[in-house]
Amino acid sequence: MEQILFKNMASPGYTPKISSYIAMGGYEALQKVFSEKITSDQLIEMVKKSGLRGRGGAGFPTGTKWSFIPKNPALTKYLCINADEGEPGTFKDRQLMEKDPHQMLEGIVISAYAIGAHTAYIYVRGELDLAMKTIEEAIEEARKKGFVGKNILSSGFDLEVYVHPGAGAYICGEETALLESLEGKRGKPRFKPPFPANFGLYGKPTVVNNVETLSNIPYIVNRGGEWFASIGVGKSTGTRLFSLSGHVKKPGNYEVPLGTTFRQLIFDLGGGIINGKKLKAIIPGGASASFFTEEHLDVKLDFEEVAKAGSMLGSGAVTVMDEETCMVWAALNLMHFFSHESCGKCTPCREGAPWLYKIMHRIEHGEGKMEDLDLLVSLCGNIAGKTVCAFGEAEVAPILGTLKYFRQEYEYHIREKSCPINHSERLATIGFP
Ligand SMILES: Cc1cc2nc3c(=O)[nH]c(=O)nc-3n(C[C@H](O)[C@H](O)[C@H](O)COP(=O)(O)O)c2cc1C
Ligand code: SF4
Repeated sequence: MEQILFKNMASPGYTPKISSYIAMGGYEALQKVFSEKITSDQLIEMVKKSGLRGRGGAGFPTGTKWSFIPKNPALTKYLCINADEGEPGTFKDRQLMEKDPHQMLEGIVISAYAIGAHTAYIYVRGELDLAMKTIEEAIEEARKKGFVGKNILSSGFDLEVYVHPGAGAYICGEETALLESLEGKRGKPRFKPPFPANFGLYGKPTVVNNVETLSNIPYIVNRGGEWFASIGVGKSTGTRLFSLSGHVKKPGNYEVPLGTTFRQLIFDLGGGIINGKKLKAIIPGGASASFFTEEHLDVKLDFEEVAKAGSMLGSGAVTVMDEETCMVWAALNLMHFFSHESCGKCTPCREGAPWLYKIMHRIEHGEGKMEDLDLLVSLCGNIAGKTVCAFGEAEVAPILGTLKYFRQEYEYHIREKSCPINHSERLATIGFP
């Protein structure tokens, strides 16, 4: 299983310094772009051919996204790098930024050239101090070598790269909220259309791409779109980083070709469930993704296959829960997060999230009624698809997923006024947000 993005950092003695990156062949792709006079159209074609899809959540084809940017050279354009990584359970971009910042930076310079942007902003979650410091140092090292700044490698192409800290609000990871936040406003999503490709940062054409997405670009340039497309399965090409957490023996970030199964990831790489317990549930793609169970272990980590099975690959976080996890508690825990993080722009989400949380809270605490289950479903139906951003679909996913597979646990809580799994110490930990 060839590693692409984790290959450098797995090499003994590798550091985030530019000398380490160059010793591993770093910045050769950037030099190739300028020495072989590869045009921006050719780069976009190459990325289209690779089949690379966004690693931030939605899985939109990267080359196609770039091709929406108007070609007019007189227009100011921006590249914004989404390094906000706020999805609970997701911690892969952090590792890329802290351990191999030049890989991302080389991807940024090539991508900015491809779309004709002369300014790039890396929007980093504010808590990630080390990542920000490491990237700032990387930018200065790259500037000294002529890879960033004016007249990069004597090509006539200029690019300034800035790091912008966010304040740790989950919604600022949503691309239009990120743009609002960069402009100095409250991070609330914009209505779409217009899409950022036409009306983005300061109203100018803008591409927003995830850290992992852009880190793949140097390898696609070096080895070709066909090579990248030959890894993976169907329309899910390349490798992907999965943040494995929860009740597994070996949690951590794993790079695997798309098409690997959940069983291989959780049992072969993650070592299986801790304390010899049985697997009960999996969140397959971050807190916004609906739950899977043991019956989904042979589903492939493939955008289409996971969607067909009723969930999504999302941000690449795979959270594993053992047989002693109360599913009502797990859904309540996630609702606590969503209820706290709603930005409040639209009524169904602003009012609906705390209401869902309130109902979940009373069920978990033995004060629910059977009618609450229908109320939950009806409320979820009045939120999903009726909001400005995809947060609306995200917040109903844990409830609908647990109701689908673990309805009997909800019924037990209501009927018996207690939990089928004794976890009284956990009950005390979730109050009202
Ligand atoms: C509520 C919400 C939070 C999001 N958080 C992130 C995030 O932290 N990082 C990220 O890359 N994308 C996040 N996204 C997805 C972005 O809106 C966008 O699709 C992505 O950054 C595009 O980059 P890509 O095409 O490279 O995936 C989020 C979306 C939503 C709805
Ligand atoms: S769905 Fe929620 S988070 Fe998204 S804009 Fe509406 S209120 Fe804000």
